[in-house]
Amino acid sequence: MKHLRILLAFGLVVTGALLAAASGVAQAAGPQNWLYPGGPVAEMQLGLFMLTTWIMVFVFVVVSGLLIYAIVKFRAKGAEEAGTAAAEAAAAKEDLPPQFEGDPRLEIVLTIVPFILLVIMAIPTVNLNFALAADPEGDPLHVRVVGHQWWWEFEYVDLGIITGNELRIPTGRPVVLHIETADVIHKFWVPRLAGKIDAIPGRVNTAWIQADEPGVYWGQCAEMCGTHHANMRTRVVALPPDEFEQWVANYGRGPVVETAEELAAAERGKLVFETRGCQACHTIEGTSAVAKVGPNLTDIGTRLTLAAGMMDNNRENLKRWISDPQGVKPGNRMTRLPLSEDELDDLVTYLLSLK
Ligand code: CUA
Repeated sequence: MKHLRILLAFGLVVTGALLAAASGVAQAAGPQNWLYPGGPVAEMQLGLFMLTTWIMVFVFVVVSGLLIYAIVKFRAKGAEEAGTAAAEAAAAKEDLPPQFEGDPRLEIVLTIVPFILLVIMAIPTVNLNFALAADPEGDPLHVRVVGHQWWWEFEYVDLGIITGNELRIPTGRPVVLHIETADVIHKFWVPRLAGKIDAIPGRVNTAWIQADEPGVYWGQCAEMCGTHHANMRTRVVALPPDEFEQWVANYGRGPVVETAEELAAAERGKLVFETRGCQACHTIEGTSAVAKVGPNLTDIGTRLTLAAGMMDNNRENLKRWISDPQGVKPGNRMTRLPLSEDELDDLVTYLLSLK
């Protein structure tokens, strides 16, 4: 009876601790907390994970419970007070429980129970794999995702839009990602929307995501890919469908400014962009710059961050990034251009007006 109580108390403590941990983690809805899914794919994956976890918890509680029960019930009693080692051995021998070997009933149970548990996990695992590999229902948006050291390129194949590091998507609509790499292996991962997907040289991996609510979903390259693996971040910006359409319609429309003064500065900045070196690596729709070494900057004024999520996109940070790219992100492919302070000011005004 006493042992049963110990066992019960152990089970309750373990289960309580796990439940507390689970609810704590779920409540800490950080920007990259995959236990807080933001769409159907992540939800299905979380469901499978929880099923597996609870089966494991059950196995853990039963096995450790039996172990603790055996330790408590069959521990050597009073051995420390006995005399010689020989007397202890003799006493231990007398207390031995009945010895037996190879109980067929026990072995059948020990084979069948794990088999059943594995089948319970295997069926939904295989089902989900096939379900997620198939094309999603509805009218999916197709995006080609290319990993670069150390930034992500997104090409909306049906819309003629290319952007970098930030993937704008409409809410409630599946987005099929065709993931590849321009150099080494990367891994696309936006935890709240889906599990990790490899970007492997020479192949295209397909997966889909969907965001149910508008918001910013953080992502992080999940495969060690060089010095700035940690600074190869991404943001998925989920917009209500009408706002997404607006962004699509606005893409490439050129400088958006409020005053004639700003317009003049943006025009000068555009000239700097086209003639002072930026054009050697970047593209901006509607200009003579069409290079593809670095990110396409057509909508850079709409982006939330710079340098793949390293800093907020604002005037001060953009100036710092352009004037000292190697200081901000050593080893990246952007070079420092010999620009005067005025040229830099105009260039930044121009870039921030592209939205
Ligand atoms: Cu790309 Cu790590």
